[in-house]
Formats: sequence, structure tokens, C-alpha cells
Amino acid sequence: MISQNTIQQILSRIDITEIIGGFVKLKKRGANYLGLCPFHNEKTPSFTVSPSKEIYKCFGCGRSGNTISFLMEHEKYSYVEALKWLAQKYNVEVEETESSPEVKAMQQAADSLYIINGFAQKYFAEQLFSSDEGQNIALSYLKERGFREETIKKFQLGYGLEERDAFAKVALAAQYNQDLLQKSGLVVVRDGRISDNYRGRIIFPVHNQTGKIQGFGARLIRNNDRAPKYINTPENEIYVKSRILYGMYFARQAIDKMDECLLVEGYTDVISLHQAGIENVVASGGTSLTHDQLRLIRKYTKHLTIIYDGDQAGVKAALRGLDMALEEGLSVKLVLIPDNDDPDSYVNKIGASAFREFIATSRKDFILFQIELALRDAGADSNKKAILVNQIAETISKINKAEDFTLQQDYIRKSAELLKIDEAGLLGLVNKFIRDRVGKFETKAGMVEPSASGPDSEQAIPENEDELFNLLFRDEMQERAIIRSLLEFGMKPWEERKVADYMLEELGDHEMIDNTDLNKILDIYKNWYGQGFEPTAKNFLYQEDQHLSTMVVSIMDFPYELSPNWKEHYEGKILTREDLYKEEVISTISYLKLRKIKRLMEMNQKDLEKSHTPEEQVMYIETHKHLKNMEKELLAQVGTVIVK
Ligand code: UTP
Ligand code: MN
Repeated sequence: MISQNTIQQILSRIDITEIIGGFVKLKKRGANYLGLCPFHNEKTPSFTVSPSKEIYKCFGCGRSGNTISFLMEHEKYSYVEALKWLAQKYNVEVEETESSPEVKAMQQAADSLYIINGFAQKYFAEQLFSSDEGQNIALSYLKERGFREETIKKFQLGYGLEERDAFAKVALAAQYNQDLLQKSGLVVVRDGRISDNYRGRIIFPVHNQTGKIQGFGARLIRNNDRAPKYINTPENEIYVKSRILYGMYFARQAIDKMDECLLVEGYTDVISLHQAGIENVVASGGTSLTHDQLRLIRKYTKHLTIIYDGDQAGVKAALRGLDMALEEGLSVKLVLIPDNDDPDSYVNKIGASAFREFIATSRKDFILFQIELALRDAGADSNKKAILVNQIAETISKINKAEDFTLQQDYIRKSAELLKIDEAGLLGLVNKFIRDRVGKFETKAGMVEPSASGPDSEQAIPENEDELFNLLFRDEMQERAIIRSLLEFGMKPWEERKVADYMLEELGDHEMIDNTDLNKILDIYKNWYGQGFEPTAKNFLYQEDQHLSTMVVSIMDFPYELSPNWKEHYEGKILTREDLYKEEVISTISYLKLRKIKRLMEMNQKDLEKSHTPEEQVMYIETHKHLKNMEKELLAQVGTVIVK
């Protein structure tokens, strides 16, 4: 861990325009700086850096953050790596707090494993190119398969000799520790004797994000039935299979640039496609995709194209990843390779340019593909079709991010057409799946009483799509508006006090805000303010919880000057949001209160319907009147102020 003292020193020196300006050409435009966005392709600049707020935001692709998140996103650094990079730049000495003995031991093991792997890679490459056995058996095999020497060198391929302990002898002589050698998977102990694990095999090193070698895949030269085709590094401190995508180190820049990641199954597929000039490609290693792997892809792009064999197994394997990919916010396309080929053999068969053409033209939307496939399978069986409709609805319901709302509508339309069913019906079904999930989530998060998700509350669930949309997204907008007002205007005067005093009092306990992250921000704010500290948005930007930090940035959508809603003329002066902060504070609070009143009225209405005695009814009607009056007052207060 880096000490808090060091972090503070680094943060006090950060100049966001200088750091980002090192990667992006920026021009001054008013109070801000403008440049071409490094995260998506564009011709007119929409990437904005605000030195005063210490944040950036692209109005083209929506990416935003602070200096540290920029380094994390652009350079793919971890939080700690970004801090260390800045420390070096600003000549701040990094003071590390003591880590626990376990953590230290793990770090030491990891460091040693990287060193051993680096040593082994050099050794295997030398055997491939310089030993007789390597040249005659392995290099000739690779060349026969069409791999050029420059490609073999780029991917640092190697060869492990047949001899039982050729590598082990060299490694032990070079003083490498035997336990670590075993842990690395390079050697094994059998019958008390130490032996090489990858014998008579082509060695494929697996690189991490910075190009260091995490492990190996070792392929038999001639397939035989007695031994597995590939032997892979066992799980250890640095090789965690579920987080590895083979080829990511070589593909990352191309993925960024093309804004698309191609996914294949095997080592040789990645290498062959690279050789054909298709560099935005990684491999899953033949197993189902994991969330961690998808998240790794999501760091670079939203567009995933899966290229698998056209056989049954290939399609099934691809389908398994679909729902997960949608949940990670990826849009997924599929390309199936015909005739028992895999991408490697196919590109060698038809050539690089024909292959590229093939990918471009036979890319299919994955969800629609799934429907076509299943429809063919279901035939005239109406039972099967009903099951299919349900499955499709569930799949579509997983695209539930606000920004993908139109995408979801699009799928509903196209799918209904393919399935030959009523669009509204499918929409209803999709919404049901969303509701089920939201319900489960809310119960889990303690947002509603568990009983409220029982059958009794059925009627409270909006049937209509607009209402559902409001429930899921618009409420959050209002809540964001509150937090934004607080962060921005909290320290401004409010009668005898400050805006923060008024707002925190009005917000009372947390029942007003549903969103857990926003509540967390509110909590931290209260805590800081309670300690006599004057919190601003900036304080939230540089904290380790990048999730909250990003949330704060996205809340403070900064060039307010551009928002026409807030431009009002007053004695010739254009009023900005700054001038109108009181109105904004009142209106955001009022809207939140209105929402709460609306909810209370709905609950009251239901109780009224269920009430039995006349006394009860009178009470509920009185409550209703009271709430209605409050609503009227609030509406009057909001008056003409328009809140987006
Ligand atoms: P394939 O059998 O399709 O191999 O397995 P490949 O990559 O096309 O290799 P070539 O072209 O025959 O030389 C796909 C991937 O599955 C993993 C490997 O990562 C392989 O690249 N695999 C396969 C294993 O891990 N172990 C095995 O025994 C087989
Ligand atoms: Mn192959």
C-alpha cells in the first residue's frame, strides 16, 4: 500500500491538462481544453478537459474521469500503478506502508515466478532456433503450418526438448529454487525425480498486460492419443486461468483503435490472424468465457465479435457466453467458420484479404442468430417455441443499462418479427424479467420490505413501459440532481446557514434516496461536513473507490454554459446555474419530495382499497387529502423552474 502522505503529495501536484496533454493534443477553449478523444475515433474534437474541476469528459463517447482514471483507462494502469507513474513524474518519493507477511510472501512468489518464466522463455526460444532437434522438428513444423519467422519471434514461441530434464538441469544450475520451479509448472517431480513438464512440445508463452510472461501453453507436435494436445501452466500466484485472454498484450492497441475485439478459441488462431494483419484478436483457450475475461475486454471496447467453429460444439460454447456478455454491457456479434475449419486453417486456406472480407460480411447479430437457430430446431413444435420466446425475453432483459434502452427496444421489435409474435406481448415479457430482477435486487439491498415483492404488490408494478422506464432510470436522474446540487452549491450561503445545512436537513435520513452509490456519496459528504471539512466534488475525485469517483464525474456534467435551459436574461446579464443555485436546490429537493409523496399516495390508495371499517376509510381519505395538499404546495414551489 502507498502511504496516505505520499498520495496527498502526488495529488497536490497533479496538473490534469499537463498529464492528459501528454497523450492528447489539447487546445484552450474558454475555461476548458478541447481535443480529439483518445477513446473513440472522431474528426471533430469533443474531448473536454476542465482544469478547474480537474476532470475530463468526452461528449462524443461519454467517457469521463479524473487524472488517475485517465491513466487507468488510457494506459490500463491499476490505481497503484497510476499513482506510482505520477510519483515518478513529479519526483515524489513513494512511501509504502508495511504489508502483511502473507501479502509480502505472495508478492515475492509472484516476482520470482515472472523471473523464472522469463528465463524459461529465453531458453525455449533458443532451443527452437538453435538446437538441431528444435530446428528439425519444431521450427520446420511451424513453418510448414505457415508461420513466418518474424511472427514466431514476435509471439516468442519456443520448443521444449524431448530429453527428460533438459530444462530442469539448466534452471537448477542457474540457482532457481526447485519449489518455485514446480509452482511455475515448468518442472514436475515424478518418482522422486525432477522432470521437464513440456517435452517435445511447441511452447506458447502467455503474456500479461505489460508483456511479462505469466505462463505457457505447450502443444504436442504430432497429436497422439496418449498425451493431451496442450499442457497449460497450473494455477499459481500469477497464472489465474479465469482472468487470462491469450494475445491481449499484442491486441490491446488494435482493439482500442478498431473499437472491436475478436474472440477465437486457440493460440494458433490468434497468431495466424495477427500474421494476416488482423491484430484485434484474443483467445479464450477453448473453455467458456468468464466474467473476468469479459470485463477485461470491456476495458477496451463494447463490441465483441466471437469467431468460432461452425460445428455444434463451437456454437454451444459461444452461446454460453452470450448472456454474460450482455450483462457486462457488451454488444455481441458472431461469425461461424464453415467446413470444419478453424480461424487459423481458414485464413491459411483463403488468404488474408478474403478472410477479412468474410468476417465483415458474415458477422451476425448474436441474439437474432440465436433465435434463427432455435426456431429451426423448434420447427412446428409450439411447446418448444413458447420456451424459446421466454428464453429470448430473458436474454433481451439483460440489456438493462440505461444507455442501451433503445438497443433493447430494437431487439424487441426484430425478435418479435422473427418469432412472429406480437411486439407488445414480447415487451411485456421482457419487462417481467426486468421486474423480477429489480425486485430481487431491491429485496437483497434492503430497499423494500421482503413482503412487498410478494403477490400482493403485483398491482404496484407498472405494466406500461414508460412507467417502468421512469421507475428504473428517471428516479435516478432526480437523485443525481440532488447530489450534484449538494456537491456544487453545498458551501454557498442559504439564509443564515449554508446550502448543505438546508439540504441535509431536508433529506433527513436516507429514505429519500434509493441508489446505494449516491447514498454512499451522501454519507461521506455528511461525515466530512460533520468534521468541519468543506466537501466539494473535487474531494470525491481522488479516492481509491474509482467507482464512486466516476459516479461523481458523471454527475457533474460540466460545461453548464452550454445548457440553454438555464440561460435566462436578467438586466442584460446572462444568468448561469451559479446565479440560480437557490432555485435549483429548491426544485431538486421538491422533485424528490414529490416522488416520495406520490409513493405514499399509492400506498395509501392500496390500503384504502383493502380497508374494512368506515373509520379506516375516513382515515385513509384524510391522509390522501393531506398528501394531495402537500403535493400542491410543492408544485407551486417548483413553479416555473425547469429541471431537466
Ligand atoms: P484446439 O484443439 O482447437 O487447438 O483447441 P488449436 O488452438 O486449434 O491448435 P492447433 O491449430 O490444432 O495447433 C483450442 C484451444 O483449447 C485449448 C488451447 O488453448 C487451444 O489453443 N486446449 C485444447 C487445451 O488447453 N488443452 C487441450 O488439450 C486442447
Ligand atoms: Mn487449429
